[in-house]
Amino acid sequence: MSPPSSPLRCLITAGPTREHLDPVRFLSNGSSGKMGYALAAAAAARGWQVDLVSGPVALPVPAKVNVTRVISAADMLAACTGLFPHCDMFIAVAAVADYRPRFSSAQKGRKQAGPMTLELEPTVDILKTLAAARQPGQVIVGFAAETTEVETHARRKLVEKQLDWIAANDVSRPELGMNADDNAVLLLGRRGERVAIGPAPKIVVAQRMLELIAPA
Ligand code: CTP
Repeated sequence: MSPPSSPLRCLITAGPTREHLDPVRFLSNGSSGKMGYALAAAAAARGWQVDLVSGPVALPVPAKVNVTRVISAADMLAACTGLFPHCDMFIAVAAVADYRPRFSSAQKGRKQAGPMTLELEPTVDILKTLAAARQPGQVIVGFAAETTEVETHARRKLVEKQLDWIAANDVSRPELGMNADDNAVLLLGRRGERVAIGPAPKIVVAQRMLELIAPA
């Protein structure tokens, strides 16, 4: 963690992960990375030192942000594990794949006649793992992408993952969803804070979130 006079160090995950079956096929999701990149840009604009660990996305890296590019959940965990002990704030925005193929092949698989069953195994929960290893003073922030009972699920994740803050995100509304330019979140704090932000461009939502979660 930074000494009191140096800039706040912020670690952010963004984008999807890809869990490869073979060199050309993977399991993933529709995350664009826009919300995580907006938070990285807003944090750098505040003068914070920003490490962004990004899954595969088609976005430019914001000015003054150090990016580490990763593919899978396991890569993302490895990159974050090295950076986490040095950060004052960790914001997990990435849409990490919850499962990966149990078996993957170095060669392209061939199609076969008839149906096919994929065997999957869980990936590591990066946010929960790092939150459990936190040092005193580190602020841990998650996102909850939900389509039903948004606040209930977000509150459960706030407690289960031992977070300071969680941004509940209703991804059932396409105009505010994972790939949209705008967002609306309900920011919940562990001390009972509850603040609705947006709908607004993701950069505006990011700036407002950082104002609220920045250590005093
Ligand atoms: N997260 C993570 N690693 C995972 C899964 C999720 O770091 N393997 C983080 C996300 O970046 C987000 C938070 O955990 O900040 C919640 O992610 P979400 O997908 O909403 O929830 P899950 O924990 O995956 O639970 P579920 O899929 O059952 O809703």
